[in-house]
Amino acid sequence: MRPGGEKKEITVLAIESSCDETAAAVVVNGRDVRSNIIASQIDIHRLYGGVVPEIASRRHIEKINQVIAEALAEAKQSFSDMDAICVTYGPGLVGALLVGVGAAKAISYAAGKPLVGVHHIEGHISANYIANPELEPPFLCLVASGGHSHLVIVRDYGQYEVRGRTRDDAAGEAFDKVARAIGLGYPGGPEIDRLAKEGDPDAIEFPRASIEGAPYDFSFSGVKSAVLNYINGCRMKGVNYSEADIAASFQRAVVGVLTDHTMLAAEDYHIDKIAIAGGVACNSALREEMRAACGARGYSFYLPTPELCTDNAAMIGAAGYYDYMNGVRHGLDLNAVPALKLGE
Ligand code: KG4
Ligand code: ZN
Repeated sequence: MRPGGEKKEITVLAIESSCDETAAAVVVNGRDVRSNIIASQIDIHRLYGGVVPEIASRRHIEKINQVIAEALAEAKQSFSDMDAICVTYGPGLVGALLVGVGAAKAISYAAGKPLVGVHHIEGHISANYIANPELEPPFLCLVASGGHSHLVIVRDYGQYEVRGRTRDDAAGEAFDKVARAIGLGYPGGPEIDRLAKEGDPDAIEFPRASIEGAPYDFSFSGVKSAVLNYINGCRMKGVNYSEADIAASFQRAVVGVLTDHTMLAAEDYHIDKIAIAGGVACNSALREEMRAACGARGYSFYLPTPELCTDNAAMIGAAGYYDYMNGVRHGLDLNAVPALKLGE
């Protein structure tokens, strides 16, 4: 508290460049987003059907200064107004991460502001604090993105227990691969979501994998192969197939597993506050099914707006604020850590 009694506002500049979005944001007290600028590279990567790491790094370099300047301008603030510079330092593509980390270190050094390295998944989870001002730990969060599928108990701010993870493909990766197989563009998740609305989710029974002895873990390579086999089988027999039915049935299988495992963990760990995060949390069927499952059990359900589910820097500012308040500080030797584990 300040002498006058009012609480000091903590303002952070947050930077995110772990994959194919160059993003910067100004966030106050972890929940109040003053600006959130995203330069998406999707249009270039779409030409190649997925993210090309070299192109991503180069694009980040071209865009990062402009994106940071825009974030400050929109918030009507300057580097000197910041209490900390927060940046994603892993997990992600090493060349892409290095661009954000390099920019953050330069600003931290030049402006004399503390540097806080943030875990990307911690960022996804923290998007829920922005969208739901009343949400406080403990809660259970399903994080489903292009690179990760985790079930995480958030014990407290900055305290994470990973209870489930994918054994192979991430949920978003499965969406992207199946979309490609049925001739849809990249990223595939939104395309499948759209096409599934025209199809019958009960048309085809695709497998829902569970792993013996690890009831909260996920495996999506089986359902992906089943879709490919189904398409190949139809082609070999000269039978017509409906892309919309495949999209709807595949989506039902993946959403079913994500929801069932989350509900099982909630029951086993006696947690009645459930959140979802990551790009796949944009999925309309997942949002509906999780809401219904939570409603049926009397659990509270939290979710970010779709813009805060996919990669952005506001979520890094939310996570970075709580890390900063917990005393996390990094030196100018901070490096990108492509395989950074949650809780390290
Ligand atoms: O969180 P994110 O932007 O990046 C990573 O950290 O990976 O997630 C991107 C992933 C992609 O795989 C994309 O296909 C998926 O999220 N996604 C969706 C939807 N919107 C994005 N998956 C299913 N349904 C959607 N509506
Ligand atoms: Zn992400």
